Amino acid sequence: MSGDRPEVDEYERADRAVRDGVGEEDNAIPLWFNIGFYGLMVVGVLYILFYLLSDWSSLGEYEAQVAAAEARSSAARAAMPTENPYRGDATAIEEGREVFATICVACHLADGRGLVGPSLVDPYWKYGASDAERFQSVAEGRPGGMPPWLAQLGSEKIWKALAYADSLPRSDAPGVGAPAYVAPTP
Ligand code: HEC
Repeated sequence: MSGDRPEVDEYERADRAVRDGVGEEDNAIPLWFNIGFYGLMVVGVLYILFYLLSDWSSLGEYEAQVAAAEARSSAARAAMPTENPYRGDATAIEEGREVFATICVACHLADGRGLVGPSLVDPYWKYGASDAERFQSVAEGRPGGMPPWLAQLGSEKIWKALAYADSLPRSDAPGVGAPAYVAPTP
């Protein structure tokens, strides 16, 4: 068969002929292809013009979302009670006792005097003595090993657990785990 092979220049002349059953043609580019090709360029130019001339940017969109989220969370904070709504409410304190006995005892002990976590019945508060500050300690957690509980308990149960802790007998001695607590409250 090797004797039948054409010379190299014959390959070139036969450029448009069928070889090995495969033909090469020189047809016009189909309309659909051109529409897609030039259409994409037009879209690209329009997009650039839109991007340059309108105020839109993905950064701006992100900043708007952050601002909206901040507005929502500060509204939520403003709506939060600053004082424990359940102080002295016997039914709520009973519910708070259950929460306390299930969760908080592990670290703060049943009488609240502290074990891993600090005493909750002494006058020393590392993160503030106000209801709002103590709510925040429980809801969001604190870096020294206090886990956040808002997702699991919701704010009602947190207020009730704190109301229960407030109902426990006070003890003036700084509790276990409270060596660095320097600010006694009036
Ligand atoms: C896994 C152990 C653990 C559990 C469970 C736990 N705490 Fe704590 N808690 C801590 C530790 C540790 C700290 C001290 C954090 C620090 O110093 O940063 C703390 C701090 C606090 C504080 C702030 C004290 C202060 O002096 O400012 C409050 C209030 C508190 N816990 C209440 C609760 C309540 C209510 C619960 C139950 C819902 C609870 N904790 C469950 C470990 C725990």
